[in-house]
Amino acid sequence: MISVQSLSKSFGSHMVLKDFSFEVAQGKTAVLLGKSGSGKSTMLRCLNLLEHWDRGNIEIAGLPLGRTCKPDGQWRRWNTREEAEARQRIGMVFQQFNLFPHMTVLQNVMCGPKRILGQDETTARKLALELLDQVGLVQKQSAYPSFLSGGQQQRVAIARALAMRPSVLLLDEITSALDPELVGEVLEVIRDLKQRGLTMVCVTHEIHFAQDVADHVIFMEEGQLVEEGRPDALLAQPNTERLRKFLSRFHARSGGEKMAS
Ligand SMILES: Nc1ncnc2c1ncn2[C@@H]1O[C@H](COP(=O)(O)OP(=O)(O)OP(=O)(O)O)[C@@H](O)[C@H]1O
Ligand SMILES: [Mg+2]
Repeated sequence: MISVQSLSKSFGSHMVLKDFSFEVAQGKTAVLLGKSGSGKSTMLRCLNLLEHWDRGNIEIAGLPLGRTCKPDGQWRRWNTREEAEARQRIGMVFQQFNLFPHMTVLQNVMCGPKRILGQDETTARKLALELLDQVGLVQKQSAYPSFLSGGQQQRVAIARALAMRPSVLLLDEITSALDPELVGEVLEVIRDLKQRGLTMVCVTHEIHFAQDVADHVIFMEEGQLVEEGRPDALLAQPNTERLRKFLSRFHARSGGEKMAS
């Protein structure tokens, strides 16, 4: 479903993604794991065309992202309108939920389909209510975001992304701004989406998130793919010293937390 081939990207002289390649099969969930600054968000932003890359290719559902082959065989980069259209099919949810504060929960979920897809009020409302039901928040449809908990706001943000019927959903650190007791309700929504066969790429530096939802884990450092594999095998028996070190820091921290509690 997603194929990233030898992607490289620099900000000025700083190379943030280096010859980065990975694939995600239809209906599977990949987790990009790595410490802060390793390039995880940049990778996700390239998948959503929020960043342009310097070299390499991305294909989604077999079609090149961001460029079209002209009849003369030359490639042409997409214009802003083409990029915006593609972005609608690739949902993205961020750490800070970015809901519209002046709209109710229902209006937040309905606004994309109405404004961008041109759906009528009845169709958009029906879909929004279905999605709010799916994330367990129909009863909050008339509330404004500031009256919701972080976990509830994040579930609305997921429903809003789903309302655009994306073929792929990208999730960037969606639980890291939440109090620990609210993480579970968001993970439950992600597990449900997995069951429904949505293809997802999640970015995190928390290994419990990877353990919980990943079919495939990709560990990256300084813009490079270091190791990838199934979460159980990869996280239990890393092949590289770099991943071992990353995991040992996490284990030390969670051990410390346990001792403190
Ligand atoms: N717009 C930008 N201009 C310049 N440098 C940038 C820009 N965006 C990201 N970077 C740099 O690229 C590197 C990778 O950033 P990125 O946000 O992808 O990391 P990350 O793995 O998502 O980190 P975190 O876990 O902290 O979110 C960092 O060194 C960052 O400072
Ligand atoms: Mg990031």
